[in-house]
Amino acid sequence: MEQNIKIVLPEIPNLHELDVYIQNGGFNAAKKAFTQSPDDLIEQVKKSGLRGRGGAAFSAGLKWSFMPKTTDKPKYLAINGDESEPGSFKDRQIFEYNPHQLIEGILITCYAIGAKTAYIYIRGEYHKWIRLMQKALDDAYSKGCIGEKMKDTFNTEFFCDIYIHKGAGAYICGEESSLMNSLEGHRGYPRVKPPFPAQRGLWGCPTTINNVETITNVPKIIENGWEWFSKIGAEKHPGTILYGISGHVNKPGVYELPTGILLTELIYDIAGGVAGNKKIKCVIPGGSSMPPLRGDQLEGIRMDAESLKAAGSAIGTAGVMVMDEDTDLLRVLARITKFYYHESCGQCTPCREGTGWMLKTLNRMIEGNATSDDIDLLIEVANNIEGNTVCALGDAAAWPVKFMLDRFRDEFEKYVKTDVSLPVRNKVHAMRGTVVPLVDVKR
Ligand SMILES: Cc1cc2nc3c(=O)[nH]c(=O)nc-3n(C[C@H](O)[C@H](O)[C@H](O)COP(=O)(O)O)c2cc1C
Ligand code: SF4
Repeated sequence: MEQNIKIVLPEIPNLHELDVYIQNGGFNAAKKAFTQSPDDLIEQVKKSGLRGRGGAAFSAGLKWSFMPKTTDKPKYLAINGDESEPGSFKDRQIFEYNPHQLIEGILITCYAIGAKTAYIYIRGEYHKWIRLMQKALDDAYSKGCIGEKMKDTFNTEFFCDIYIHKGAGAYICGEESSLMNSLEGHRGYPRVKPPFPAQRGLWGCPTTINNVETITNVPKIIENGWEWFSKIGAEKHPGTILYGISGHVNKPGVYELPTGILLTELIYDIAGGVAGNKKIKCVIPGGSSMPPLRGDQLEGIRMDAESLKAAGSAIGTAGVMVMDEDTDLLRVLARITKFYYHESCGQCTPCREGTGWMLKTLNRMIEGNATSDDIDLLIEVANNIEGNTVCALGDAAAWPVKFMLDRFRDEFEKYVKTDVSLPVRNKVHAMRGTVVPLVDVKR
């Protein structure tokens, strides 16, 4: 497999500077794109097999094709740079090292979907990257690569504007519908879908939302052709991915490599193996919300959407979190759950209440006051959250609990008292006077 291919982060010194970007062929893809029809471009991106890098791995070209062709409303493009999933830290590399390729990708996408305005939504705390991205936009504006001057620069009738929108620092604002609410100036509550953003997005108008990395791939697909892209990496999930590797590895960081690379190769050859040569206990392959994998079952697992699904997990944002044999998984799970409890917007009951119940139960386990029933209670609460909420934050909170307990039950059994059990499964209700009084509890 060709490992040296770099699409979104080429190793060219000072590529973040506009002149360097242009000297290296920057904006040639946009020039080429503006001579083609929008439908042709959508078809090329569809055929390339490019899938979203923001978590769900949905076909980018197919998403663009959902935008209505005939509408009298303005259309919008929103670029998702909220990047708040624990273990995920790759989009900011693009803001820092290759912002103009993102800009060029935005121009081509706007042209393809018929949008005149694009917003780059960046998490508010990312001051450095907001500043760097704004500088790149200012430079591109003054060179006539964005805005009305595009007409002269690219000899085209098409032009569009790009704005940065700073979030206020909320994980939920990375969810596409709450991102739109936040952009409109409202509280970042997710919206019920349908209607989907292409039907009713920003200010009720057709909107496409894509991740930063997804759109940064677009210029290279147009420049080199969809066949070229479709042959890189895994057949059904082609291209490269920015793998963000963290945890107990010798060389944590962001690495651009083809999809479909072996997870073990990524950990041992690319990230330098496990610190202190310890064994791996657990790996979360796609950011903290994805189902964790057992360290003794990593052989043969490849890093693409299909392979990870078959292995019982998901590619997510390709944020690979490695935990060695000495890791206390109870504390890891409690920390992850605390994050989702804190970030729940509170709009729907299973997520708002369930994340809190899971956290309380895990803390009870840490304090040594849990019973053997608590493991099943946790799985039951997680099952009641999953699929029953307005947005996927509910699933994100439920999966780590459900799969960690299922796959590492032995680890959690160590923390519970087997000789204590309660007569009813749901001990929260058991605290109420309507069920068996606590004095009758078998001890
Ligand atoms: C709770 C939650 C947080 C999310 N955070 C992000 C994020 O920070 N960045 C991102 O690109 N997608 C995030 N997503 C996924 C987006 O909703 C959306 O699917 C994505 O931006 C689409 O882009 P893509 O198709 O290019 O991947 C999140 C989803 C959920 C449910
Ligand atoms: S699942 Fe959680 S974060 Fe999503 S809308 Fe419901 S309460 Fe809010």
